[in-house]
Amino acid sequence: MTKVVSCINLKGGVGKTALSVNFAAYCGIQGKKTLLVDLDPQTNATFSTIGVKKWNDEVKSNGTVADLLGAKKHTSAQGVEKTAHDVIVKDVFKNVDLIPSHIDLFTVDLDLASARFRETKLKNALKDVLADYDIVICDCPPNLTIPTQNALAFSTHYAVPVTLDFLSAIGVSLLVKRVEEFGQDLDHDLEQAGIVISRVGRPAVHREETEATLRAQFGDSVLENIIKERASVSTAAQSNVPIFSSSDNLAKDEFLAVCEELLEKIEG
Ligand SMILES: Nc1ncnc2c1ncn2[C@@H]1O[C@H](COP(=O)(O)OP(=O)(O)O)[C@@H](O)[C@H]1O
Ligand SMILES: [Mg+2]
Repeated sequence: MTKVVSCINLKGGVGKTALSVNFAAYCGIQGKKTLLVDLDPQTNATFSTIGVKKWNDEVKSNGTVADLLGAKKHTSAQGVEKTAHDVIVKDVFKNVDLIPSHIDLFTVDLDLASARFRETKLKNALKDVLADYDIVICDCPPNLTIPTQNALAFSTHYAVPVTLDFLSAIGVSLLVKRVEEFGQDLDHDLEQAGIVISRVGRPAVHREETEATLRAQFGDSVLENIIKERASVSTAAQSNVPIFSSSDNLAKDEFLAVCEELLEKIEG
């Protein structure tokens, strides 16, 4: 069965996109057929994999995830219905396909205000292609609105990247509770793949305290391995390559360890 993982957090800038993109690359390198779905209207996972120029071409000719969800104002659809086959961009990395995002997703909650089954639009749209993939990774926006709900409604797992500031531990508790309620509402099983400590800066007492709090509160859910703040992560994204193509061996090793641990948790 295809595993589907959503990368979520209510906070922005915590490393959701960096993890989604590089975890997708890792899975591809492992020989897994991987689909990366960009569900954030900020379109960062898309820009980190295919860049702005290719994205523009895709928007015009093939459409984006905004079409699959039924965003009304989308320039991307040009009034023509798009299928998963239309919007998938093949081989953005080795064994990795991408469904790009679009800013129109920003207002999809309004577009779908009275739509029925609006949480399962993505699940339905991807029904025909799901069997082509071993793993699907959804990069979500920093909220729990319709795009994130669509990701969660067909996810088997969710991962929560966090940074080490004192608000993280509080935020994660609220998020996990809400996600569990959402799963129950939809009668849908969702497992936590793990809390991933990301973008860790220089050693500092407040960071050590926050890490200790997270580990005490969430136990084994918190991945043992962590990702540190390293310029090469941004540089790789800017160059549309995974961190594994970078010459920064420290960053590569950290992502490798985290991805390995995450995949093990997902595959059991
Ligand atoms: N480990 C890291 N080290 C340095 N910069 C990072 C790291 N992870 C992410 N970034 C950068 O920080 C910014 C926010 O990260 P991002 O993954 O986009 O967060 P989110 O998706 O949670 O908003 C981006 O510019 C990204 O390139
Ligand atoms: Mg992001």
